[in-house]
Amino acid sequence: MILLQKKRDGKELTTAEINFFIDGYTAGDIPDYQASALAMAIFFQDMTDSERADLTMAMVNSGDTIDLSGIEGIKVDKHSTGGVGDTTTLVLAPLVGALDIPTAKMSGRGLGHTGGTIDKLEAVKGFHVEISNEKFMEIVNRDKVAVIGQSGNLTPADKKMYALRDVTGTVNSIPLIASSIMSKKIASGADAIVLDVKTGAGAFMKTEEDAQNLAHAMVRIGNNVGRQTMAVISDMSQPLGYAIGNALEVQEAIDTLKGEGPADLTELVLTLGSQMVVLAKKADTLAEARVMLEEVMANGKALAKFKTFLRNQGGDDSVVDHPERLPQAQFKIEVPAKTTGVVANMVADEIGIAAMLLGAGRATKEDEIDLAVGLMLRKKVGEAVEAGESLVTIYANRENVADVIAKIYDNITIADSGVEPTLIHSVVTE
Ligand code: URA
Ligand code: CA
Repeated sequence: MILLQKKRDGKELTTAEINFFIDGYTAGDIPDYQASALAMAIFFQDMTDSERADLTMAMVNSGDTIDLSGIEGIKVDKHSTGGVGDTTTLVLAPLVGALDIPTAKMSGRGLGHTGGTIDKLEAVKGFHVEISNEKFMEIVNRDKVAVIGQSGNLTPADKKMYALRDVTGTVNSIPLIASSIMSKKIASGADAIVLDVKTGAGAFMKTEEDAQNLAHAMVRIGNNVGRQTMAVISDMSQPLGYAIGNALEVQEAIDTLKGEGPADLTELVLTLGSQMVVLAKKADTLAEARVMLEEVMANGKALAKFKTFLRNQGGDDSVVDHPERLPQAQFKIEVPAKTTGVVANMVADEIGIAAMLLGAGRATKEDEIDLAVGLMLRKKVGEAVEAGESLVTIYANRENVADVIAKIYDNITIADSGVEPTLIHSVVTE
């Protein structure tokens, strides 16, 4: 196949060649061995900006796309590359919704050390994402915020390619990751996209340099295919906020919507939210947008929007005022610091796995999760701690949590000094 030789030799593929390949691969006319050869050639030879845009759009056009044109206003989607205790979507959707910005959100479930927005919302009794497209549109038009699960036939080319890359050593390629993520965002219909690219131990991109490269690649693809896109690079060396676990994160989201949440989660939500408000053309500057968001946190509008959002999808909105009605774990176990000092490091992905061991997350897609369990961090990196003071509270539905305690001790370092990590590394607009 001539286009495989071209890519192998570092030449640029044309739009027609990329469309031919992706269409053929999706239809099953092009076999896996040729697609793996192409992925490996891309891994070593990279792709130009126009190839990346073409690949993204070919994957978008390989299946269904969601038409949000029936929803009034500029639809801004936010996407996170995934992390530990990342409660941002739960807060952001009602927060910007309170400013009349529509969020028609398609979300997923958690796997491994990362959690998923749908699982978290299902900690609210009755809440469900199985709603028809018509109902989804109707709710967003009326109340600005709704969440549904990923539909069956969105970007089938990406599904096939991603599974193939997983077993051929070609996941870690910037052009392939960027086109994979952006194809899903574009197929789900947003006019503008805000990306939260995480960096650090709990992130897909472990180093800041990789996160920067991915962010630039995705922002360029979005802008080149006519969707205004920007990215925030944020810290995921330690978990975000204090809560890790489904019901615990719903509680954390409620606190944050009231303006009483953890400092880092609140700051990230205001940073991402300000970008969304500006992209939605509800404010001219980020500073103005931030004031508007702080106002709806302070005057109760954001919290009221959260209640409406839960109620619209069958959820018991009384949990907002009665958090004790959220699923409760049977045992609360403190993990005391062994020495006095400063928390110097907290390895985010390993802490995420500790929560998963309790049942808060899934090791495999088939696993059932326990909505009540998880971890509450009592200290974060940079904070002083005395020997005997609690580092973490474990919320468990089993009495023996020695495995979880061992994992926590292995992954939290107390030293003479430690500095709070920078939360927002940079904002990427091109
Ligand atoms: N996430 C995706 O959706 N695609 C990739 O290629 C990598 C991470
Ligand atoms: Ca959290």
